[in-house]
Amino acid sequence: MNKMTVRDIEVAGKRALVRVDFNVPLDEKTGKITDDSRIRATLPTIKYLIEQGAKVILCSHLGRPKGKIVEKLRLAVVAQRLSQILGQPVMVTKDSIGPDVEKAIEKLQGGDVLLLDNLRFHSAEERDSPVFARALARLADIYVNDAFGTSHRSHASIVRVAEYLPSVAGLLLEKEVKTLGSILENPAHPFGGLLGGAKVSDKVGMLENILNRVDSLLIGGGMAAIFLKAKSYEVGLSLIEADRLDTAVGLMEKASRNGVRLLLPVDVIVADGLDAEAKVKVVSTENIPPRLRIVDIGPQTIKNFSEELRKCKTIFWNGPMGIYEIPQFAEGTKAMARLLAGLDATTIIGGGSTAEIVIEMKLADKMTFVSTGGGATLRFLSGKTLPGVEALLNKET
Ligand code: 3PG
Ligand code: MG
Repeated sequence: MNKMTVRDIEVAGKRALVRVDFNVPLDEKTGKITDDSRIRATLPTIKYLIEQGAKVILCSHLGRPKGKIVEKLRLAVVAQRLSQILGQPVMVTKDSIGPDVEKAIEKLQGGDVLLLDNLRFHSAEERDSPVFARALARLADIYVNDAFGTSHRSHASIVRVAEYLPSVAGLLLEKEVKTLGSILENPAHPFGGLLGGAKVSDKVGMLENILNRVDSLLIGGGMAAIFLKAKSYEVGLSLIEADRLDTAVGLMEKASRNGVRLLLPVDVIVADGLDAEAKVKVVSTENIPPRLRIVDIGPQTIKNFSEELRKCKTIFWNGPMGIYEIPQFAEGTKAMARLLAGLDATTIIGGGSTAEIVIEMKLADKMTFVSTGGGATLRFLSGKTLPGVEALLNKET
C-alpha cells in the first residue's frame, strides 16, 4: 500500500482522531451488540496509539439515523464493550462535534480513549460537508482512517476531514488493503472464487474483475438462478433480475474467453415457500418444477464445489449458497464454510453476511482473513479505488 500509516508519523502526545467502523449489529429487542468483530478488528490501531501515548479520539457511525438523533443508535453501548475488551475506561460524548466535545478532549491525557457519538446524527456527515469536517478536524492534530468498511463512502469523516489534518491509515485498513490487494495482484494458483448471495446486480463489477484472475468460479445462492436461466434452464418461482440476463450471459462468455472453469449448481433444494414449514426436495437443475423455488444448493453440487475448491491454493468466498437465515436452507452455506475452514489454502472471506456466517459458526479463526467490509470489500475487489483510502497521505518514496 502506498499510503502512510500510523507507524510512519509521530503520534506521541498528539490528539489522534481515529475514524473506525463500529457499525456493529445490535439485537433489535435488547439493543445489545450481537457481534463485536468490528470492534476487535480495530484493537491493533487503538492499542498502538495508547502505547505510543497518543490521545485517542474514536469516531464512527452506527446504522442509518439519517441526520437525526436516534437514541438506540448512540455509541455508548460500543464504548462499554470496547472498555471491557481494552481493560481501561472509554469515555463517550453526547455529540461528535461542539464545545462540550472540545472540553472533554481538553481533559485527555496521553493513552486515554474517548469515543464520539454517532457521526450520522448530523446530516452534514453524509453530505461530505467541509464545515462538519472542519469541526471534526478542530478536535485533533492528526487523522487516522481505520474504517475500511466505510471507506467506499465519500463522507465528511472519511474523505473531507483529510483536507484539514495530516491523514494516515490505521493498521486494520492497511491489513484489508494488503490482503484483498494480494488476491488481485498475486494470488497463489489455482485460485477459486466461490460466489453467492441473492442478486447478481450487486456484484457485477467484482465478478468482471475477478474473472481476470481466477482459475475457477463457482456460483451458488439466489444469484445462480439467473445463470441457469441464461443457459435456458427453467428456474420455477426463483426470483431473478430479468433485466440482468444479458449481464449473466456476458459474464459466462468472459469466463469462457478467459479459460475460467465456471461451475453452476447441478442440483438444488427447491421449496414451496420461504419459511421453516416449507416442503423441500432435491432436484436436478434440469428439472426445476414450475411452482417451486431454489433455496439452496444440492448435495451433488456441494460435492462438485468441494472437489474443485480442494484443488485451490487461494479461495475467495462472498455470498451465501442459499437462504441461510432459514435453518433448513442453510446446509449448502454451512458445508462450504466447514470445507474452507479445513483447507490449507489461503481463504479470504469477504462481505457482510458471509463474514457473519463464518463468525456465527465460530470458524473465523480457521480462515486466513475475514474482511470487515461489505460494500467496501466488493468495491475494492471490483478494482476501483476507495475514496477513504485515496484521501490519505502517500508514502514518501
Ligand atoms: C457497512 O456496514 O457496510 C458500513 O459500516 C457502511 O455502512 P452504510 O452501508 O450504512 O454506509
Ligand atoms: Mg452496508
